[in-house]
Amino acid sequence: MRGARVVFGVLGAIAPCAHAHRLAGWQASGAARALAIGGALGGAHGRRLFRSALVPRTASPPTTMAATAAATTSGAEAPPVPKLRADYAPPAYAIKKVHLDFALGADETTVTADLAVEPWDAGARTGDARADLVLDGEELTLDALSIDGTPLEPSAYSHGPTSLTIRGAALPAGAFTLRTVVRTKPRLNTALSGLYYSGRMLCTQCEAEGFRRITFFLDRPDVMAVYSVRMAGPQAAMPVLLSNGNLLKAGVDEARDGPGSHFAEWADPFPKPSYLFALVAGALQHISSSYVTRSGRTVTLNIYSEPESVDALEYAMGALKRSMRWDEEVFGLEYDLDLFNIVAVSDFNMGAMENKGLNVFNTACVLARPWSATDADYERVEGVVAHEYFHNWTGNRVTCRDWFQLTLKEGLTVYRDQAFSADMSSEAVKRISDVRMLRARQFAEDASPLAHPIRPESYVAMDNFYTATVYEKGAEVIRMYAALLGKAGFRKGMDLYFKRHDGAAVTCDDFRKAMADANGRDLAQFEGWYTQPGTPTVHATWAHDAGARTFSLTLRQVPPAAAGASAPPLHVPVAFALLRADGSGEALGERVLELTEREATFTLNDVEGEVVPSILRGFSAPVHLVAQRTDAELAFLMAHETDAFNRWEAANALMTRVLLGAADAGARREPLGEVPAVLLDACRATLVERAADRSLQALALALPDFDTLSSSVEVVHPQPLCAAIGWLKKGLAAALKPELLSVYAQCAADDAATAAYSPDAESIGRRRLRDACLSYLSALDEADTTALCMQQLKGARCMTDALAAFSAASRVSGPARLEASAIFADKVKDDPLALDKWYRTRAAADVPSALSEVRELMSLPSFSLTNPNRVRAVVGAFTALNHKTFHKEDGSGYAFTAQCVIDLDKINPQVAARLARSFSAWRRLEPASGALMKAQLEQLQRTPGLSRNTLEIVNTSLQ
Ligand code: ARG
Ligand code: ZN
Repeated sequence: MRGARVVFGVLGAIAPCAHAHRLAGWQASGAARALAIGGALGGAHGRRLFRSALVPRTASPPTTMAATAAATTSGAEAPPVPKLRADYAPPAYAIKKVHLDFALGADETTVTADLAVEPWDAGARTGDARADLVLDGEELTLDALSIDGTPLEPSAYSHGPTSLTIRGAALPAGAFTLRTVVRTKPRLNTALSGLYYSGRMLCTQCEAEGFRRITFFLDRPDVMAVYSVRMAGPQAAMPVLLSNGNLLKAGVDEARDGPGSHFAEWADPFPKPSYLFALVAGALQHISSSYVTRSGRTVTLNIYSEPESVDALEYAMGALKRSMRWDEEVFGLEYDLDLFNIVAVSDFNMGAMENKGLNVFNTACVLARPWSATDADYERVEGVVAHEYFHNWTGNRVTCRDWFQLTLKEGLTVYRDQAFSADMSSEAVKRISDVRMLRARQFAEDASPLAHPIRPESYVAMDNFYTATVYEKGAEVIRMYAALLGKAGFRKGMDLYFKRHDGAAVTCDDFRKAMADANGRDLAQFEGWYTQPGTPTVHATWAHDAGARTFSLTLRQVPPAAAGASAPPLHVPVAFALLRADGSGEALGERVLELTEREATFTLNDVEGEVVPSILRGFSAPVHLVAQRTDAELAFLMAHETDAFNRWEAANALMTRVLLGAADAGARREPLGEVPAVLLDACRATLVERAADRSLQALALALPDFDTLSSSVEVVHPQPLCAAIGWLKKGLAAALKPELLSVYAQCAADDAATAAYSPDAESIGRRRLRDACLSYLSALDEADTTALCMQQLKGARCMTDALAAFSAASRVSGPARLEASAIFADKVKDDPLALDKWYRTRAAADVPSALSEVRELMSLPSFSLTNPNRVRAVVGAFTALNHKTFHKEDGSGYAFTAQCVIDLDKINPQVAARLARSFSAWRRLEPASGALMKAQLEQLQRTPGLSRNTLEIVNTSLQ
C-alpha cells in the first residue's frame, strides 16, 4: 500500500497500488504446464494451435445484425497457459480509433463497439493469407458482428470462451471498421473486473485485462487508440454519466434511448491502451474546484462519491492540487486535459486506478474525515491521490509495451509518490516507513516460492503480479538510478525518457537507456536488477590503519538463492560516510560507492583519528546488509549516526538481535531471561529525549514485525517468534513504565491543547508517540494501563485516538476488551470504512478464542464476501496480523483460511488469489507447521473449478 501503493500487498494493508515468484520455479512451472497441456508444442506457436483446437464455433448463421446467434461464454475456462516475456511479438493488427456506445443497465448493458482496424505493418501478411484477427473477450454475449456494415458469415469467424477469431480470408486488405454488439451482466460481476455494479453505481476496472469483459478487443497495452464514448442510461438511477477525456454533449433523446433515459458523449484526445478506459454511471454527488497550471491553463477538478460521503472529499482535493503543483516543480510535468475527475467506489479490488482523466478509487484511499480516518489513512490518501495523478505521465502518456514491463510505470510512480510524500512531511520518517514496509512485504515475498524479478519472465494471471516486488522493489530500483546519477542526472534522464517516448508503449530497457544516454553512463550491468529475483546480501568489513591514516572498506555481494549462486554481480550503489568515534560528526561526508564486482575494497586516505563507518545510508540499495557490529557500536550509532535512516536502523538491528536470540531460545525450550540492559538503556534514552520529531522517536521504539523477522531467518518457528515479540514488548514496558507514562501524558496533554484535528506532520508525530507508549503499556495488562486505554477511547476526539485505544485494549485479558469493542462498534456502525477498522482489530486480536471470534465476525449481517475491503478487514487481517492463531499448532488457522480461499474464489478470484498467498511461507516454517500448511495448498490444488488466478499462486507456492 505503502501506506500509499495501489495494490493490496497483504490483505489488510493497502498499497496503491499498495502492496511474488522465484524465477527458476516460475519458469519451470510455466514450461511444465505447457508440456502437460500442449504436448510437444511449446512456445507461442504451440499454444496458439492448442487454443484454436479448443475454440467452439458459433452455430447459427447471423441473418441480421440483431439476430446474430448469441454465445454466452461463462463457464468452462481454458486450462491456464503461461505467457512468456521472451515470446513478445507485436500484434498483427492495430486499432487506431474506438467508438463505444453503451446502453447502460445494472442487470444488462449492451455495448456496441466500432473499431478502426488496420494491419500493424506489412508483416501482417504471411504468404497470401492475411493473419486472423484474434480479439480477446470474456463473459460476453455476442449479438452482432459486421465489417464495414456487412454482417459476417458464420464461417468467417469463431467464438470461444476467451476470444473471437475472424478468419484472415474474411478481412479486407486495408483498413476496415469492425462492429460488435455484446451484452454483459454488471450485477452478476462479483469479480469486480470489467463493468460491474457497486453501491449505487456502475463502474469499470480494466487493468490489467478487464476491458475484454466489456467488449471484444486486442486487450494489450501496445494497442493504443483514440476513444469516443456515448453512454445512455436511466436518468433517475444514473444522473451522473462519466468517461475519459472531455464531455462533448449531454442530453435527452428518448426516441433513441427509451423513456426516462439520458445520455452523455465523451471524447479522449490522447491515444491510450484499453486498460485505461473507464466509465462510471450512478447517483453520485461531487465537490468541485479548479487548478491553474504553470502555463496558465485552468483545469476543472471534480471528486465524486455516494451522497453520504461528499463531506469526506476535501482532503483528497487538496492532495490532488499539491500533487499537480509538485509534479510541475520537481519534474516539469503539467496536466494535459481541461478536466480531471476522481470517483470513490466502495467495492474495489485494489487501491485505485489511473484511468485517463477519470481516476477510480477505493473509498479507503480517498475518503478522509477526522472521525473515520486515522492519521495513517490521511497519509495514505495523500500518497495514493498523488500516485494516480503522477501516472498521467508515468503510465498514461508513456505506457508499457506489454505487462511484463509493469514496473516501468509502477516502480517509477511509487518512487515519485514516495518522493512527493517525503516533501510534504518528513523525508526521514517517510524513508523509514517505506523500508519497514519493503522488508515486511517484499523481502518476505523474495524469501518465498513466489519470488520473482521486478520484471517477471512468465505469468498465468497478470493480476497476480501487482506485487510488492513489482511496486516496492521496483521503486527501490528507480531510487538506485537517482543514487548513481544524482538528482540532476536523474531529472535529465526523465526529460530524455519523455522526449523520446511520449505517446508510446515502451519497455524497462528503454527507460534504462534514457537514463544512461542522458548522463553518458554505461548502465548495462544495472539490467541485473530487472532479471534477478530475490534479495542480495552485501557483507561489509573494514580496517583502519591509524599509522598510514587509511581506512578500507571491503564489500562482498552474495546473490540470493532464488537467483542461483552463479548469478552475475549486480551494480549496487552503497551510500557511505565516516563518523568520528567521539560522536562529534562526520570525518568524511557522504559519497556513493559503486559495487560492481563480486567483491571490492575501497580505500580512503588521510583519515584522521578514530572513525566509525556509516554504510548503506538512506538504505541506498534493497539488500540485506551484514556488518558485524557489537551492541555497543549499535548503541553509538543510535546516538550519533548523522543519517536518520541509519540511526533508526541501529535501533532496529539491536532489537532484531535480541528478538531472534529470544526466539531461538524459545524454539530450544530455554527460558527467555531478561531484556538486555543495553537495549533497555537505548530505548530509555530514545524515550526521554525531547526530540524535535516525535514520529522518528515512535519509529525508533517500534518493534521489528513478524514478517520481517521471519524473512531474516532460515527456519521460522512461529510460536516462539510470537512469544519473543510478546516477551520483549512486555519486558520493555515493565522496565520503562514510568517513562512511558510520562511521555504518554506529555503527548496527550499537548494534543488536548490543540483546537481541531489536523493531519500535519507535527500533530501526527505527537499522536504516534503517544500511541506507541499506549501500545507498550497495554502489554502490561495491568489495571491502571487498561484504564488508560479506556480513558483514551472514551475521550477520543478523532479516529486516530479511538482506534489506537481500541487496539491496545484488544490485547488485554479482562472484560475491558469486549467493553472497548462495544464502545468502538457503536461509534462506527454507520460508516463502512470505520466499521472495517472494528472488524480488522477484532480479527487481529491475539486472544485464545481468536478463531471462533473470527468465525463469528463472518456471520454478522454486516459481513459480506462480495466487498473486498470487508474481506481484507477480517480474513486478511487474521492471516497477516494474527500470527499466533493463524499458525496454531493444530492447523486450524490454516484450514479456516483455505476454506475462505475456496469460498471467495467463486466470487472474486483476484482477492482469493491474494489471500492464498498467505500459504507461500510454508517451506521456511518448522517442519510440523510447514507440513500442515502444505497440506492446505495441496487440498486447494485438488479443488475442482479453482480460478486460474488462485491456481497459479497455489501451484507456484508448491514448487
Ligand atoms: N494501476 C493501478 C495503480 O497502481 C493498480 C491496478 C491494479 N490492478 C490489478 N489488477 N491488481 O495505480
Ligand atoms: Zn500505480
